[in-house]
Amino acid sequence: MFTEEELQKVQEIRSHYPTNLAAVMGVLHMYQDKAGIVDEKGVAYVAKLIDVPEEHVLGVATFYEMYHQHPTGKYKLQVCTNVSCMLCNSDMVLKTIKDRIGIGIGEMTDDGLFSVHEVECLGSCGTAPVLSLNKQYHENLTPEKINELIDTMKAKG
Ligand code: FES
Repeated sequence: MFTEEELQKVQEIRSHYPTNLAAVMGVLHMYQDKAGIVDEKGVAYVAKLIDVPEEHVLGVATFYEMYHQHPTGKYKLQVCTNVSCMLCNSDMVLKTIKDRIGIGIGEMTDDGLFSVHEVECLGSCGTAPVLSLNKQYHENLTPEKINELIDTMKAKG
C-alpha cells in the first residue's frame, strides 16, 4: 500500500512518540489521504504496519469524526453543528448546501463530487458558523459564501 517514501514518513511519525500507540492517528491520516477511507482493510493494514492491536486502531478510527469508514465525496463539506455554530445558524449552512447540491448530512452527490458531514466543534467558535472543506476552514458563513464556495468546487470538478 505505502510506497518506500511513505514508509519513511511512517517511521518519522513513529519517532515523534514514545509508543506506537501514539502514532496511530498520524498513520491513519496518511492512510486515509491515500485510500480515501479508513475501512476494515485500512485498520488491519495500519495495525500491522506499526505493530499495535487492531482493536486500538479501530477504536481510534471510529471515535474521531475526521476518519471515514465509508466513501466520501472529492470535496468533503464538514459542517460544525456544535453550540456556537448552532447559535450562529449552522441550520442555515446545512439548508444552503441542501438547496444547492441536494444532499444532507451523511450523503454524497451522485457524481461523487460532494459529501456532507456533521462535525463537532472545529475550534473556531469565534468565527461561527464554520465548515471545513477538505481540511480548509471557511468561516463567518453566509448563504452567498457557501454558494460561491460550492460553485468554485463545481467549476474545478
Ligand atoms: S462550535 Fe463550531 S467551531 Fe466551535
